[in-house]
Amino acid sequence: MQIVVGSDHAAFEAKEALKAFLANLKHEPIDVGTLSSERCDYSDFAKLGVAAVLERNCLGILLCGSGLGISMAANRYAGIRAAVCRSVLEAQLSRQHNDANILCLGSRINTQGEMEVITKAWLDASFEGGRHLDRIAKFDKWGEKL
Ligand code: RB5
Repeated sequence: MQIVVGSDHAAFEAKEALKAFLANLKHEPIDVGTLSSERCDYSDFAKLGVAAVLERNCLGILLCGSGLGISMAANRYAGIRAAVCRSVLEAQLSRQHNDANILCLGSRINTQGEMEVITKAWLDASFEGGRHLDRIAKFDKWGEKL
């Protein structure tokens, strides 16, 4: 499936490696940048990633050094449920309970191998619906519309 991928400079190399990992799993990474290790602002790539996820109605993975800044920026937009995950359990729960449509990773926090394991767990998990539907609906329209 198509998966939007974006990062700032701090996670550029991690993003490139993650694209190869996703392609190996037969997914199609849609890269919204950044395209080099040249210094840039994570908020710009959060916005590009959000736009691509909403337009394609698909999942996305956004990376920065900590995963924090890019998730904060992404969560400013209506319809986005971006989850920073440092562990497999967080990755699974963010899909099962929160229907996260963007996974945020920190390349200075987790190793490449850990990020790949977290990514696989996130992609393999699915939303449980039920009691979680109304909880998400309550806040999902909040935020700026893109
Ligand atoms: C860039 O130095 C760093 O601040 C950024 O990648 C991220 O960690 C911010 O939250």
